[in-house]
Amino acid sequence: MTETPDLPGGSGLPLEPSEADLHDLLTRASGFVEDLVSGLRDAPVSWPDLDEGLHAEIRATIDEQGGSFDRGLSLMERGLPEGFNTASPGFMAYIPGGGLISAGIADLVACAINRYVGVSPPAPGMVEIEWRVVRWLCDLFGYLPESRGVLTSGGSMANFSAIVAARNDRLGEDLRGARIYVTDQAHHSIRKAARLAGFGAEAIRIVPRDERLRMQPEALSHAIVEDRRARLRPACVVASAGTTNTGAVDPIEPIADVAREQDLWLHVDAAYGGFFQMTKRGAASFQGIERADSITLDPHKCMFLPYGTGALVARDGEKLRRAHMETADYLQDLDLGEETIPNFGEYSAEFTRSFRGLRVWLPLMLHGVAAFRDALNEKLDLAEHMHAALTETPGLELPWAAGLTVVPFRVAGEPDVANAATRQVLDRVNASRRVFFSTTTIDRLLYIRPCIVVHRTHRDRIDEAIDLIREATGAVHSQK
Ligand SMILES: Cc1ncc(COP(=O)(O)O)c(C=O)c1O
Repeated sequence: MTETPDLPGGSGLPLEPSEADLHDLLTRASGFVEDLVSGLRDAPVSWPDLDEGLHAEIRATIDEQGGSFDRGLSLMERGLPEGFNTASPGFMAYIPGGGLISAGIADLVACAINRYVGVSPPAPGMVEIEWRVVRWLCDLFGYLPESRGVLTSGGSMANFSAIVAARNDRLGEDLRGARIYVTDQAHHSIRKAARLAGFGAEAIRIVPRDERLRMQPEALSHAIVEDRRARLRPACVVASAGTTNTGAVDPIEPIADVAREQDLWLHVDAAYGGFFQMTKRGAASFQGIERADSITLDPHKCMFLPYGTGALVARDGEKLRRAHMETADYLQDLDLGEETIPNFGEYSAEFTRSFRGLRVWLPLMLHGVAAFRDALNEKLDLAEHMHAALTETPGLELPWAAGLTVVPFRVAGEPDVANAATRQVLDRVNASRRVFFSTTTIDRLLYIRPCIVVHRTHRDRIDEAIDLIREATGAVHSQK
């Protein structure tokens, strides 16, 4: 298709839009975003079909001449009703995010100014903003002034840096016989991080869990003692503050006791649950978390920020820095000596990095911390409400209390039949396109696990979800 380019570059510089062209682009982009956000409530949460024609059209884009902005927006718009809508109030699969629009606006500004924030001298004011965010995260967990942290692309990268820091601090260069302790409920990014950090698969030792799927501290202690006797090298224990499967929180205080007695690095993977620390209920279940050597957080989950926003905080910032620090001659013109504002590139695998600080700082600054705390309390209430309603629903089984905001349930009965019936309930509920759930398997039993995290999800949608689950359960039972 021949198009009239929107930015013909009358001045001969098509990459530098005139003021009028820029204004026009921004106006059209903001109209697009406004329509999108205002339509989220009523839009379906999932779409079964793929628009093959659209995919062919997208593959045919990009050529020597520029194209029309409206066509670009229209291709994006047509691409949206595919897959599932993670920004919808009905999205409760996996660990949702939501995507605060104030963070989206911050991203536009961050990309437009495009200042370099890998180290502080090129943009001290911008790095100060990011540092304020990291300090706020450290304070949330009672970390002292020597703590540091870094914003990452997500929880996986944060877990990776934590494992690297633990390795550097407890093992040095020699990884032989090293052991990292987790339960089978830990997120798979821990295994990935260990592999990327140079550990063999045998380095991961699975610690038994209790009936609530939480690590057993006595079993951890026993495993460490046994491994030391076998001349292995226990180095690190990873506790979960909200597992992905069920939201189970490992007992951090007694695990911290074991870690201290046995001289292990304690990492807490709080990618899902960490921000519930802002609430009384969350903080009570994370008791002892301030003793962790490092904590992974994912603002793109329970701070409702757009994807690509993770964080790692470390109790002793110098240990995190030592694990990642490198220098080079071509950096000699930058004054990186005395750290007044952290050079985040020294604390992370990334050097050049996007200005993630702004997308966390602007929403916090603009909405205030209380807005986040209130939203998280609301989600905890919603999870309790859904749990109570499903517990009263004949034919369903809920073996555990709601784990933070995850409400795992299954159709009761013998595994084979019940697993098939649970899958049918899921398919029926998801076919409504008003809510969208995903499943997990624990001890060979299939569970549907609504996870209530999108900031736009409120009581009306949860009640609708409960009705849909009840209807689907009734229909599946009547078929038996
Ligand atoms: C407990 C936990 N840890 C780590 C991760 C990985 O985070 P990301 O997907 O941001 O890399 C997740 C993601 O769901 C998670 O739930």
